[in-house]
Order: sequence, then C-alpha cells, then structure tokens
Amino acid sequence: MCGIFAYLNYRVPRTRKEIFETLVNGLQRLEYRGYDSAGVAVDGPNKTTDINGNSICLIKKQGKVKALDEELHKKDSLNLEEELSTHFGLAHTRWATHGEPSALNSHPHRSDKNNEFVVIHNGIITNYKELKEYLINKGYEFESETDTEVIPKLIKYVYDNRDNENVTFSTLVERVIKQLEGAFALVFKSRHFPGEAVSTRRGSPLLIGVRSDQEILNNIHVMYGSGHLKDGEKEKNQHNSPDDATQEVKEVEYFFASDASAIIEHTNKVLYLEDDDVAVVTKGVLSIHRVNRQAGEDPVRAIQTLQIELQHIMKGNFEAFMQKEIFEQPESVVNTMRGRICFDSNNVVLGGLKDHLKEIKRCRRLIMIGCGTSFHAALATRQILEELTELPVMVELASDFLDRITPVFRDDVCFFISQSGETADTLMALRYCKERGALTVGVTNTVGSTICRETACGVHINAGPEIGVASTKAYTSQFVALIMFGLMMSEDRLSLQKRRLDIMAGLKDLPDLIKKVLLLDDGIKTIANELYEQKSLLVMGRGFNYATCLEGALKIKEITYMHSEGILAGELKHGPLALVDKDMPVIMIIMKDGCYTKCQNALQQVAARSGRPIIICCQDDPEITKSAYQTIALPQTVDCLQAILSVIPLQLLSFHLAVLRGYDVDCPRNLAKSVTVE
Ligand code: G6P
Repeated sequence: MCGIFAYLNYRVPRTRKEIFETLVNGLQRLEYRGYDSAGVAVDGPNKTTDINGNSICLIKKQGKVKALDEELHKKDSLNLEEELSTHFGLAHTRWATHGEPSALNSHPHRSDKNNEFVVIHNGIITNYKELKEYLINKGYEFESETDTEVIPKLIKYVYDNRDNENVTFSTLVERVIKQLEGAFALVFKSRHFPGEAVSTRRGSPLLIGVRSDQEILNNIHVMYGSGHLKDGEKEKNQHNSPDDATQEVKEVEYFFASDASAIIEHTNKVLYLEDDDVAVVTKGVLSIHRVNRQAGEDPVRAIQTLQIELQHIMKGNFEAFMQKEIFEQPESVVNTMRGRICFDSNNVVLGGLKDHLKEIKRCRRLIMIGCGTSFHAALATRQILEELTELPVMVELASDFLDRITPVFRDDVCFFISQSGETADTLMALRYCKERGALTVGVTNTVGSTICRETACGVHINAGPEIGVASTKAYTSQFVALIMFGLMMSEDRLSLQKRRLDIMAGLKDLPDLIKKVLLLDDGIKTIANELYEQKSLLVMGRGFNYATCLEGALKIKEITYMHSEGILAGELKHGPLALVDKDMPVIMIIMKDGCYTKCQNALQQVAARSGRPIIICCQDDPEITKSAYQTIALPQTVDCLQAILSVIPLQLLSFHLAVLRGYDVDCPRNLAKSVTVE
C-alpha cells in the first residue's frame, strides 16, 4: 500500500545529499507496506522551466527504492553539496491501483509542466473520473492514468481562479478536499509557497513528527473556519499560531509519514491527524485547520511521545523480518499478557475492556470481524470463546459481512481484529456496526491507528511492530488476546473454574513451549527441501486446528506462490479426497484433543489413497507416527492453546519454501502489509 514520507527542515541547514538520504531512508522504512515504484520532489531546477528561482524537481522510478536512490545520485543537474537552510521534500512509494506500475504513474504528481503544485497520496479518489472530465473541459492536461492526478490539477485550478492574491496554501487545500470523495492522506508542496507544507487526511493514516531543540508543546489547538483562533484560544496557542507576529521559531524539523516506523528514528514526538484536519507548516510553525467545528469535537490535537524504538523494527541477524518475527514469538506472547494476567491470583484484567464488561456480558452475541490472518485469529478462538462466554459467536470476513448487509443490533458486541488497525474493509465494517448502535471493540497492534481511535474500547495486542507482509507474531498475539478476553468473561462462572485454571497454566508455559517448537526449525527446513519444487500443498485438520490449516495455507500461498489449500478434515470425503494420490503433498494436523479419533479416520482415508502425509502431531504418539511419511512432533498443551504451537511449523515451513524458491519473503508480489483500500 502506498507510503508517504515528507521532510521539512526549517532553519536547519542540510545539504541536498542529506535531504535525499533522509527521504530515501523514510521510504525504506515504509517498504514493508508493499509498492512497485517510488519518487521524490525537492527544490531544484525543473527541466521545463525555472521561474523566480523557486522551482521543483521530480524524480520518479519504477521498481525498488534502491533504484530511485541510485537515480537521485545520478542527477547531474542537481548540486548534491548545496546547503539548504529551509527546504521541504516529498517522497512516496506507490502500490498500483489505477494504472500500471511506471515512472509516469508514480508519485509525486504535478499540476502542470512547471510543477507549480506537487502532491503525494495514499488512498483512492472515487470521484476522480468526474473531476478529471471537468478539469479536461477547463483545459487542464493529464499525463498519467492515476486517480491521484486530479488533485494537483484541482489545486492549480483553485489557485488560478483564486478570489484574492493573499489566499493561503491551506485555504487552497481546504477547497480541494471539499471536492474529493474516497480515502486519502495527502501532502502538498508548491512553488508558490516555498518552505511551506500542507497535509491532510480522510480515511488513510498520516502522522507528523516534530524535532526541535526548542520546547515542543503538548497540544496544538485547531483553528476553525477562516483559519483564525476563537477568542481565548490565541494565548494558549501562541507558539503554534502562524498569525502571531511576535513569535519566532528558530530551528525545527517536521516529518510526515504514513506510519511511525519512518519517523521514530528522528523523533518520538508525533501528532496523529484526524479526518479532514489540514495541517500546515508556515515559517516553521505547525497549525491545524478545519472548516467547521462539529458538536462534541475535540478542538485540540495532542503531540504524543511514542514508545517504540528503532531496534524493534530492524532485522537484526535474521535473513528476513518474517523470520525474525517468527522467532520473537516467545517474547511477543509475553508482551501480550504482561500486566494483564496475574498467575498468582489467576486473575485477568484487560484495562481497555473492564469498564464495558457488564455491557458485553449482557449482549445478544459477539461478532468477530477481520481480514486475512486477523480473521483466522478469530476463527481459531471461536470455539473456546463460545465455551467461556456462553454466547453465540459469529466470525466474519469484513468484506463479506458488508456485502451481505448483515443485520446488526444495539445489543450486539462487535470485535474488529486488525494488526495494522487501518485495513479498509475492517474499518468500513466498524463504521457500519457503529451506525447501528452496536458496542465496538478494537483488537489491534498499532496504537493510535484508525480502528483503535474509532472503537468504543479495545485491546492492544502489544506484539511490537510487524514488518513482514505475512503476519506471524501478530496472529499468535491476537490469539492470546482473545483467549484472555474469554478468561475475563468467565471469571465468575463457577462451572468454568477448572477449565480457566488449566488455560491459565497453559498460558504461563506458553513461551517455553514456543521455544521448544522453534527448535524444530532445522527439521522443518529439511522437509522444505523436499517440497519446494511442488506445485501444490494441502493442509488438513479440524476442530481447534481448522483455522491453523487456513492460516498455514495462507502463509504458503502468500510468500511461496505455491497453490495451497487449508481443508477441514471433516469435509475430506465431500470433495478434497479426489485430489489425494501418491504425488500430492499433504500436511495433516492431528493433536490429542476432542477430534483425535476423527482425524485418525481422515488419516486412514489419505493413506488408503497412497497419500504420504507429513503429520504435525503431539510428541509420544506412536500410533500416528506409524502412518506418517514424516512427522513434526510438538509439545502438548491445553486443547484450545495447541493451535498457537501448531501454526509455528507452518510459518517456518512457508518461510523456508519461499527462500528456497528464491522469493522476497518480506515483500511478496501483489500484496501489501496494510490494505487501506476496499
Ligand atoms: C493484508 C496483509 C495480511 C493481513 C490482512 C489484514 O492482507 O497482507 O497479512 O492479515 O491484510 O490486516 P490487518 O492489519 O487488518 O490485520
């Protein structure tokens, strides 16, 4: 998904080379989101024209950020050693939606050949066809196939038709976004407003980092209407109001980005924009503008201090982020439980839910909604949640839930499970449920994300940043978070106490058991060596491990591009058995739980068709080992936690298969980490 990064240095001299390094570095941090081309806009001579000395140079390239970086250093027209005291540069990674990946379609997009206005965009403009037609009729010429290009054209149109010479950059942007439909995070730069930055968002994430030796305020007051503060607000805001002639900002730097991973190495002071906020930096001063103040709206934006550290998002000694994240699971599950489970008193408190617990207990049903891996986390915990909450639990794919216009009622409790907290389908489902009066609960890994902010309450899974597109540690942490919710709901159910204690003991041992599973890595690599040239791989299981099969198959298809299918073993004879023969690789998950005998039957059916199953089973299970071609033997835990262990061999297998097949594990083709379009 597109990545935005922009850097403004105000009275902080930087050479053009340093500015390029900062921009490229920002883009590299966003690479994990998935992209196919990249570009930057900086001050500098523009091939076509160079008016008033203020000109903007665009450099865009299809392919990797590394290729763009090489291109930037090739530019002989740009003096890399030139020092710029104040400068604003834009950078962008594009993930094609409208128009193929190419330098022309990549961002920044421009208003005209003179590059009067340039813009970077994440999201989709749904009414771009109408706008494009209108602008073409007015004589504006388009050069790309993108939806984004209407934005720089539109701002130029608004500028060309301005009612007075003193119109501000932010007013122009406010006028533009009034015309836009769809989702966007935007950052604008203009030759007419050198050293100024304007950014805004609706539906797509955008945050701003601030770095300065001067004191940074904790809050920024929003300016409504004409851009002036209301009575009484001026004083509070004096360090932030560009109207305040007395103030002087000495040195400051601003970083604009789609997410914190691109900012955190520069500063931990960040501000998250709300939908329709227009953030402006003029003469080094940041201010937030909105056209109207809605009832109940908070007129203040807080500058928060982020707690994540850069080393958390670096790869360390691992070959890929995904591998690092798989091996982090003994710690990430502990972080999910930290401060929430007391193993001495067997007490579970999820701080973000405790005030809503009564309401949740009274509800008609729980609806768990997510996409991809997050959906699987809900599916994996459904059975134990039904058991512990004694409520009906629906598990829904966000897109299908919306397609069906599913009935939702005031006494429903809807969970939105999302690693990123930004997934468009999940977010739309959240807004849909909110409109119908249901209580909304977020389960996310990203503090400050849109889902986090728009839900009534929720749980942060605290797995730490996940960079690999294929989700691993976020899955096991979502799983643990949902189990903890079940434990909290069943605290006062006498009949469930024994069960609760068993689960709690299982959770306590979980990190050690995960470590034991990770020790199987070499054996799994050997299996991958045998399998990597195959075309297809079936993964079968049932009960608590059905979701594991779907999740394992998803991992395999995502990063190895092999066909892989997760199959409910109970459905085997209703179709999938026709696929089984001596050549079809089959992985079966057979654990000592309520489905053990039924899974053995499935194994016999596979064996009878000359299938050669690789079986993920419990240690000390000679019965199963007899019929297996190969086994991956795991330590045994409580039935409802077993799937946390059984998914790990599949994560490792998919990783090794992808490496053996020569693919980029962290950035699989055609996929994005954070899917912010429907
Ligand atoms: C994308 C990612 C998946 C992820 C899914 C849901 O498809 O590639 O790894 O599971 O989105 O993302 P979320 O951030 O909502 O968990």
